[in-house]
Amino acid sequence: MFQRILSDIALMSAIGVVLAAIMVIAQRWLSNYGEVNLNINGKRDLTVKGGNSLLATLSDNQIFIPSACGGRGSCGACKCKVIEGGGPLLPTEKPLLSKAEQAGSIRLGCQVKVKSDIKIELPEAIFNIRRFHSVIEEIIDYTYDIKGITFKLQQGETIDFKAGQYVQLETEPYEKVKQKVMRAYSISSKPQINDRIQLIIRLVPEGICSTWVHKYLKVGDKVNFTGPYGDFYLRDTDADILFVAGGSGKAPIKSMLEHLREIGTNRKMTYFFGARTTKDLYLTDEFRAFEDVFEQFEYVPVLSHTLPEENWNGKTGFVMPYFKDAIRDPKNTEAYLCGSPGMINAVTKSLIEYGLSEDKIYYDSFG
Ligand SMILES: Cc1cc2nc3c(=O)[nH]c(=O)nc-3n(C[C@H](O)[C@H](O)[C@H](O)COP(=O)(O)OP(=O)(O)OC[C@H]3O[C@@H](n4cnc5c(N)ncnc54)[C@H](O)[C@@H]3O)c2cc1C
Ligand code: FES
Repeated sequence: MFQRILSDIALMSAIGVVLAAIMVIAQRWLSNYGEVNLNINGKRDLTVKGGNSLLATLSDNQIFIPSACGGRGSCGACKCKVIEGGGPLLPTEKPLLSKAEQAGSIRLGCQVKVKSDIKIELPEAIFNIRRFHSVIEEIIDYTYDIKGITFKLQQGETIDFKAGQYVQLETEPYEKVKQKVMRAYSISSKPQINDRIQLIIRLVPEGICSTWVHKYLKVGDKVNFTGPYGDFYLRDTDADILFVAGGSGKAPIKSMLEHLREIGTNRKMTYFFGARTTKDLYLTDEFRAFEDVFEQFEYVPVLSHTLPEENWNGKTGFVMPYFKDAIRDPKNTEAYLCGSPGMINAVTKSLIEYGLSEDKIYYDSFG
């Protein structure tokens, strides 16, 4: 009887092992798509290994499409036209694609898997995006949770970008984080300096990249990033400007103002910097100094949670009520907003109520 039980157990175990082996082989076989042809814009053919996302496949071939959320399907930055071979639209794509985009074969590059020959269309500007190699040159503590980090490019490398654009930083594995991730960060230095860039990065609790930057990155470390990306850049007009950005959203505004200082401007500009308390203020003297540089510039910090002992005698509450005095001609005013999706939505709504045209409200949402 006992022997019978033992032989049954042995038989079941053997069957289990065989089934597991079959599953592993099947999985390998099913996900082995071999080499496929990737055609771009009808003129460029690449032979690529099938099985990866379109985003990763392009990146492996040194073609970098924006992917602000690092391929998690939440930002929509990786939209591109898939003419043939992308498979059916996935449920993960639908929330980020309008009806018109869906009808026009627009897909999310991070969700589409390259399994067979595929034809896509990419804007020519994408081919200017490159991977850069850098060494950390300087790290400044701006506040308790915001650092300014300067990345010096490898000897001879230079980067051309527009003030307001961003790069995507590639992390290295650390602690429990076994994989590299990519995250978007706006360049805070001016485009006139092209052999190094500065980023301003806020620590997000439990955030993979910002924790890596704040806790592990040190001067002398080597870091790769790709870029430049984005259409949040200063428009070359003579319209008045409202900048609205708090926290690390100050980064692209710093780049824009430093750029304007280089080229000169007499545009009327107001920068509303929303923060909670005086502990969240930084680079205040530098931004006040712009008031002496430009003919018509005002820097307006607004604190929402200031305490009596802080003796703050500046503006308080939300930034929106203060827009009224800064807008002299709503139809000739551009707005540049940077920060959380909630802030962008609230400020956009308010600016439209003040009479600004929606198409002159430019923003980068950090969400
Ligand atoms: C165009 C653009 C420009 C930007 N520029 C800047 C900039 O200049 N400076 C700056 O500081 N930031 C900027 N950001 C934001 C930045 O890209 C990152 O989103 C931010 O630093 C957080 O990344 P992280 O890897 O640290 O956090 P993540 O690891 O992405 O996590 C973010 C949050 O989500 C939570 N989370 C993560 N995974 C999960 C999960 N599976 N389930 C539940 N919760 C989860 C985490 O706990 C954390 O609170 C920008 C974003 C965009 C889109
Ligand atoms: S990379 Fe963010 S949705 Fe695709």
